[in-house]
Amino acid sequence: MTTQEFLGKQNFTINNQTVSESCPSNIALIKYWGKYADQIPANPSISFTLNHCKTNTSIEFFANEAFSVQTFLAGNEETKFAEKIEKYFKNIEQYLPWILKGKYIIRTENTFPHSSGIASSASGFGAIAKCLMKLDETFSGKSSEEESLRKASFLARLGSGSACRSLYNGLVVWGESDEVQGSSDLFAVKYPDNEIHEIFKNFNDWVLLIHEGQKSVSSTVGHGLMNTNPYAERRFQEARENFVPMKGILKNGNLEEFIKLVEHEALTLHAMMMMSDPAFILMKTGTLEVINKIWDFRKETGLPLFFTLDAGANVHLLFPNNGTEDKIKAFIETELLQHTQKNGVVKDVMRF
Ligand code: DP6
Repeated sequence: MTTQEFLGKQNFTINNQTVSESCPSNIALIKYWGKYADQIPANPSISFTLNHCKTNTSIEFFANEAFSVQTFLAGNEETKFAEKIEKYFKNIEQYLPWILKGKYIIRTENTFPHSSGIASSASGFGAIAKCLMKLDETFSGKSSEEESLRKASFLARLGSGSACRSLYNGLVVWGESDEVQGSSDLFAVKYPDNEIHEIFKNFNDWVLLIHEGQKSVSSTVGHGLMNTNPYAERRFQEARENFVPMKGILKNGNLEEFIKLVEHEALTLHAMMMMSDPAFILMKTGTLEVINKIWDFRKETGLPLFFTLDAGANVHLLFPNNGTEDKIKAFIETELLQHTQKNGVVKDVMRF
């Protein structure tokens, strides 16, 4: 598919509307880090969609008023966010030709703590894109559910890359990969459920909040630094190659190989940050202490507790519900929680 196929219908009738939508966050297993113009990813990525970490958003649209956007996050007005959304709406006008023909009040809240460092841009832009598609169907006519979801994913991507994966449950792929039929740089696709071993369908993601608050370097700046990173091409190539073993692992349920690959991806992401110019490090002391404890725990017990990281200090603790989870949970509570700032942990599961 090409961008042309997402152009909006010129025939529309607008009126005042209020719509609400909810969208979960996601955590990447093969990471997106580096992009080209128009939010085209430098390599394909695959993520698990979460269940509890969500953004709930309502959009009030006042038709035929001068274009403006007002945003409230958990009841508090956020002017910076409003500026970002205004820019975003201007950017997607060709796909939703009615979008600049009214005034917006957007109210949004996350089910996870705002300062937690859990990426709210994925669930946030996912929820906004879903709301926009609801408005679009009211103004321009209905399309099939499949088309509507695909366009929501396409629009979410233009807000924040990883957001396009949040539109689907289960495992989700964004970026063209020879290994995944129908995959595209323009929108995410659901990884086929019948290609996934049962072990991966009942998985936990407990997020240890090692460092709450603003990150020192935003994802957008981090992506940009890949443009001058001498290791970038090799990294993009490796991410593409990693889809080959990943596909086999997802089918045969080999946890040991899965753990190796997922942890390697997380560490590679952070290695890229350290190789950037200027270099930056988002891990904190607590991040490293937790990683080392996880490795010791695995060596001693053989139990399948492992980690991934996003662009921050928090550690996503991954483990299946396969009868070993009680011992793993006890270990997390007694040994790992002490490395968080305020005993902060968000207990989530994958959404299938
Ligand atoms: C490390 O999607 O937040 O979480 O497209 O600039 O909004 P923008 O970046 P963003 O980057 C996410 C990076 C990541 C890896 C991933 O989710 O694949």
